[in-house]
Amino acid sequence: MSKRKRIGILTAGGDCPGLNAAIRGVGKTAIVKYNMKVYGFSDGFLGLINKDYKKLKEKSLSGILTLGGTILGTSRLKPFKKNKDKQESDMPMIIKQTYDEMELDCLVCIGGNGTMKTAYGLSKEGLNVIGLPKTIDNDVWGTDKTFGFDSAMSIATDAIDRLHTTANSHKRIMVIEIMGHHAGWLALYSGVAGGGDVILIPELDYKEEIVHDYLVKRARKKKPYSIVVVAEGIKRPDKKISAAQYIAESIEKATGIETRKTILGYIQRGGSPTPNDRLLASGYGAFAAQLIAEGNYNRMVAKRGNDITSIPLSETAGKLRLVPEDHPVIEKAMGLDVCFGVER
Ligand code: F6P
Repeated sequence: MSKRKRIGILTAGGDCPGLNAAIRGVGKTAIVKYNMKVYGFSDGFLGLINKDYKKLKEKSLSGILTLGGTILGTSRLKPFKKNKDKQESDMPMIIKQTYDEMELDCLVCIGGNGTMKTAYGLSKEGLNVIGLPKTIDNDVWGTDKTFGFDSAMSIATDAIDRLHTTANSHKRIMVIEIMGHHAGWLALYSGVAGGGDVILIPELDYKEEIVHDYLVKRARKKKPYSIVVVAEGIKRPDKKISAAQYIAESIEKATGIETRKTILGYIQRGGSPTPNDRLLASGYGAFAAQLIAEGNYNRMVAKRGNDITSIPLSETAGKLRLVPEDHPVIEKAMGLDVCFGVER
């Protein structure tokens, strides 16, 4: 009989709904279908450095499918980051020691872009690694979807929906800031789903005058209010001022229309995952266990069209998936007279 495989699981980077569904997906499939031993590391890569882990039994993975956050905890620790004197970090070596001591066959790293980069780095140090892409930003290169995005989109859309009624009552312009430092997927999708009139994302170089003219025209057409959706990472002269505040002040000053701002913040990352995210995270988890059983390592699980597949970690490491300027959702929204702050 072949030796039982031993695997470790960690969650790293910002949390998002669906992490527990993914832990459960990997863990249960590994235990039930492939008879593996499963260990959960605390707080991302820190768990390997501190040797802080626990054995995950099938029973301990029950009842977590719908739970937000991560039962393992997370951290933004970057093991390969050089210290302030530009010296190499010894963390990768410590991680490898723990991995070797525990006789692991594979480390499953659930995270976003930064985590995939670290996972790739560890694979070059000789660890067997599998990456699972999560983030509400949906900006992991090489996959059509990250889990967490659908849940955040639902929350953000609900928030935008609620702004319509209060904006209408007071005849105001409402600016809402949605998460996304580099990628505007969440602002774009929730903005279109929530009927935003203006949507500003980091990928498009907006002009303030275009936004002002558009909002004045709406007011002249007797539209009683307007909703402006901005991604937190949009370009602006001073990043110390929030995107929402910058845009709200600019609009009120230029148009004279009363304008208010809302920053949705961490609410977008909290709570129970949507059914779509539960399915995606469970599917990714089960597929990861299958890759490990096959000995097919150093890959990131990915969604391509309707299929769950995988790509080499070397392909995704260090890359971001941004919204292309000619994305069909932008094109269709422009046809609906949504303003992106750019010439058409
Ligand atoms: O998870 C991604 C993200 O939500 C970004 O959109 C956001 O800017 C960032 O995390 C902030 O997270 P933290 O404060 O935890 O670093």
